[in-house]
Amino acid sequence: MSDQITIREARLSDAGPLNGYIRQTYASANHLITRATEFRAGSWKQRFWIARKQTNPFEVCLVATSEGDIVGMLDSWTDRRKRVRHTTGFAMSVAENWRGRGIGKKLLLHFIDWVQIHEVLERIELHVHSDNKAAIALYQAVGFEQEGVRKDAVRYEDGRIVDDHIMALWPGRSNRPEIPRG
Ligand SMILES: CC(C)(COP(=O)(O)OP(=O)(O)OC[C@H]1O[C@@H](n2cnc3c(N)ncnc32)[C@H](O)[C@@H]1OP(=O)(O)O)[C@@H](O)C(=O)NCCC(=O)NCCS
Repeated sequence: MSDQITIREARLSDAGPLNGYIRQTYASANHLITRATEFRAGSWKQRFWIARKQTNPFEVCLVATSEGDIVGMLDSWTDRRKRVRHTTGFAMSVAENWRGRGIGKKLLLHFIDWVQIHEVLERIELHVHSDNKAAIALYQAVGFEQEGVRKDAVRYEDGRIVDDHIMALWPGRSNRPEIPRG
């Protein structure tokens, strides 16, 4: 069902639509830390942010598009200090109406391939709320393993407190499972 989905790096001209996409995602996704009211970037700031991703060889912003519309995104960041720069982190989302169609997996596999051929990056790390079943299932499906838990690190508006799971993947390691890409 994701046949007409394109995965590509974000362009400067995506700034406005990407801003709208992120705003909508923060408003609708329950398992992200940032709330819609805490996201204050406008299109110009978004343009600058995309330009920084484009020119930083250790980071990337990928978008999934359908007929030109942004329906998913994944962006990564790296601490460039020498002792830790083999590790990169990322965050991702798929638009609410497009979930469950393989777009998240497609975005993530694209990113894993990008890391795998990178000259320096070796390890991908992520944080996910312990009650985010869909995201954890996706990460496990492509080979991420849980490495740690930050107990009670997240408090929702209704008072519920959940753990923050740290998961990681070493794309180049020989024990990585073969991922079905169909
Ligand atoms: C997590 C998220 C990105 C997954 O994207 P998606 O496009 O819906 O995922 P896919 O359709 O590619 O699913 C890939 C795999 O994830 C798992 N999965 C996805 N949604 C699931 C769900 N609701 N329940 C259980 N497993 C699920 C399945 O293993 C699936 O593989 P399968 O299709 O072979 O069964 C999406 O749910 C989302 O944007 N959530 C809100 C934002 C968010 O929580 N981001 C992650 C923060 S850490």
